[in-house]
Amino acid sequence: MRKNIVAGNWKMNTTLPEGVALAKAVNDALKGVDAKCDVIIAAPFTHLASINEVIDKSKLGLGAENCADHVSGAYTGEVSAPMVASTGANYVILGHSERRQYYGETSETLKEKVNLALANNLTPIFCIGEVLEERENGTYLDVVKTQIEDALFGLSADDFSKLILAYEPVWAIGTGKTATDDQAEEMHAFIRNVIAGKYGNEVAENTSILYGGSCKPSNAKALFAKPNVDGGLIGGASLDAESFMGIVTAF
Ligand code: PGA
Repeated sequence: MRKNIVAGNWKMNTTLPEGVALAKAVNDALKGVDAKCDVIIAAPFTHLASINEVIDKSKLGLGAENCADHVSGAYTGEVSAPMVASTGANYVILGHSERRQYYGETSETLKEKVNLALANNLTPIFCIGEVLEERENGTYLDVVKTQIEDALFGLSADDFSKLILAYEPVWAIGTGKTATDDQAEEMHAFIRNVIAGKYGNEVAENTSILYGGSCKPSNAKALFAKPNVDGGLIGGASLDAESFMGIVTAF
């Protein structure tokens, strides 16, 4: 059966000492609860090796927020999947809408990133989601289907099974405007159907699909109660250990 997962996406926040302190706080808070989900934090590249030293990885997973679409070489400023893996991280967020929007990431580059992540034993948390205009003009289901097909449907069933998906409606990210639990459920059920159409029911049923976009302790319970919502990818509310734990314990 698929896992329930709550993953924090810190984005470009926290200095190294602040990030290490936040990771320690989450790690310590987890000791006191019987979490009904896997818990992951995705932090800036600069923080990964240090955070890896201070957390109990059997309770708290560690991920990067991106990786390069090349293994090594003359790509100034880039960080590759093998480099991420060498810090001790096990996950990598790929295809976040901010990467697509501000850094021009396309399905073509994302295909490479997914392949390199998998080749380096990193679990991709692959993000998809429509912008407001696509929600309003009714094309949102098609948009998300195309994002999945273009970047991921070249994978074998075996490799696809290693992915975590995150549906993040762009209009809900950092805006305080959450998708309703029914809107999330409609999309998550649709995504599972799209996966089933390509890889069969077993793969679809075993794929964790997280919701992201202004998820917080006050709305997490209703979202996670939906049968096809398997957890959350949390931005703003993951920057405070207490609010992040409020979402973790919503399961
Ligand atoms: P948010 O971000 O929770 O701050 O809306 C979610 C995300 O972008 O992953």
